[in-house]
Amino acid sequence: YQIERIRNFAIIAHIDHGKSTLADRMLQLTDLVESRQFRDQYLDRMELERERGITIKAQAVRMPYTASDGQEYLLNLIDTPGHVDFSYEVSRALNGCEGAILLVDAAQGMQAQTIANLYLAIEAGLEVIPVLNKIDLPAARPEQIAVELGSLIGEDPDDVLAISAKTGDGVQEVLERIVERVDPPRTDPDEATRALIFDSHYDAYRGVLTYVRVVDGELRPRQEIRLMATGFHNEIDQLQVVSPEPTSIDRLGPGEVGLLTAAIKEVDQARVGDTVTDHKNPAEKPLPGYREPTPMVFSGLYPVDSEDFPDLRDALDRLRLNDASFTYEPETSAALGFGFRCGFLGLLHMEIISERLDREYDIPLVTTAPNVRYEVALEQQPKGGADRAHDLAADGVIEVSNPAEMPPPHQITEIREPVVDAMVLTPSDFVGAVMQLCEHRRGEMLKMDYLSEERVELRYRLPLAEIVFDFFDRLKSQTRGYASLDYEPAGRQVADLVRVDVLLNGESVDAFSSIVHRDKAYDYGKAMVEKLKELIPRQMFDVPVQAAIGSKIIARETIKARRKDVLAKCYGGDVTRKRKLLERQKEGKKKMKAVGAVDIPQEAFVAALSVD
Ligand code: GTP
Repeated sequence: YQIERIRNFAIIAHIDHGKSTLADRMLQLTDLVESRQFRDQYLDRMELERERGITIKAQAVRMPYTASDGQEYLLNLIDTPGHVDFSYEVSRALNGCEGAILLVDAAQGMQAQTIANLYLAIEAGLEVIPVLNKIDLPAARPEQIAVELGSLIGEDPDDVLAISAKTGDGVQEVLERIVERVDPPRTDPDEATRALIFDSHYDAYRGVLTYVRVVDGELRPRQEIRLMATGFHNEIDQLQVVSPEPTSIDRLGPGEVGLLTAAIKEVDQARVGDTVTDHKNPAEKPLPGYREPTPMVFSGLYPVDSEDFPDLRDALDRLRLNDASFTYEPETSAALGFGFRCGFLGLLHMEIISERLDREYDIPLVTTAPNVRYEVALEQQPKGGADRAHDLAADGVIEVSNPAEMPPPHQITEIREPVVDAMVLTPSDFVGAVMQLCEHRRGEMLKMDYLSEERVELRYRLPLAEIVFDFFDRLKSQTRGYASLDYEPAGRQVADLVRVDVLLNGESVDAFSSIVHRDKAYDYGKAMVEKLKELIPRQMFDVPVQAAIGSKIIARETIKARRKDVLAKCYGGDVTRKRKLLERQKEGKKKMKAVGAVDIPQEAFVAALSVD
């Protein structure tokens, strides 16, 4: 294909606004998929994706299209994930395009995701084509939303396309507009080969499938390539385009999109954002924008049955082959045994991984409450034989991603927590409720904009820890489901944080430790002990449940013993016998304590650790 006839574009949309449905219609319109073979959501590969109705990984599809000017164009649709956790992947996929369709549900209107992705598209310098979807719905308000959309991106509302991806109404016009308005790719004929990796996944038979957009030069089968960030090099084994089934091709030229295999064993070697170049004639500089994936949210994963530990390790190894953005390392908990501390890009990412472990590997798990990673500056270097598992940096700063490993208060000079810039879009009726929630979560307002009379954009700087703790659910419930949220990392801030421990029968239970703001520690501790009192069944002896900061107890409840059985036996008996029995019971109690034997049922753990 001549480069002037190539159009690379993405569809950006909020979850459920109809991205996959529109892609399906495009495949049909370009005659790539015969209606007979058609199944809905053709491009959503994984079973899990299909069931949850979300697109987790980007893919590309090549669609030859004869436009109304009689010319044949090559349209490459690059599919982007829709969720905040994957915004880096979105930004890379967008960098492989020259245009983006901004698809908005005409009944729901814009959501935070829509706007966040719109900003990413504008940053990437793309031509943005606004499209309203679902105009077949009775609740659709296309005129009104066209005005909002138009004023946001400076487009005449009359020019905003209105379609139904479901019925196919208006979809042809979308293809025409792509041909008209999206620029053809640009290339530098003097540059050595450079291709952007915008997605990669693992395939059991072929190794890693790497999706690339060629920027300069060309790729051919048998060519020796090098990945500039990881240094991996090998010969290209297969070069393919997806149209919509994978088809081999003997060349990918500038502007073209396809996938390659090169005996790459794990996705970690072919990372999103990396640049493919020619091994013998390499480019001087990689394409801009590469970033290492950084986990933001951490959680302990423990097998319910300790026998499953080796299986869990295998499962994590295998998941990691296909997901370089997820990390794990073994850890031990006195309460839960052997498990792993895992790092995720965000909450959805965490949910997806634990669901896969459950579904694909059938390993029942206890997942500890999610937390973030703290930077902790220490008072002084511990002298000799440090008793902690951290690597102590030379400057006395450690990173803590497991609350149980937070050093005691007297050793700490400063704790820095990650913060995010969050954007909430809400109907104006709920502005008060959203502000209240954000302020309660230690948010600092950055900005408030009325996008229209009914829709408000609020920007807050918020501690990430406050968001991972049920923020989204609260936001939804306080706005009757109407508000939407998006956020991006915004560095760290110093915060007055403390570790709250939970003691059962005087012993700290590591899995229940949590890091909270000092002002909230008391309420948190109180709520936690009350919850545990409900969850833990009565034992043979009184069990105090306490919350503590360091050695200071801040809340206490008691789970009363089941004593009456013991004394009932000696009703009417003599006092000595009674005392003996009580004595014996006390013995028992001591013994139990010695082995830390408060019986905590597994469900109690799960319930106590889940966010209420
Ligand atoms: P994610 O992959 O989760 O981001 O969702 P998506 O944006 O790909 O949305 P999807 O195409 O899965 O559509 C979401 C739902 O909206 C599905 O139930 C579709 O059938 C429905 N839908 C999509 N387009 C239309 C439309 O034009 N009209 C109507 N009535 N429903 C539509």
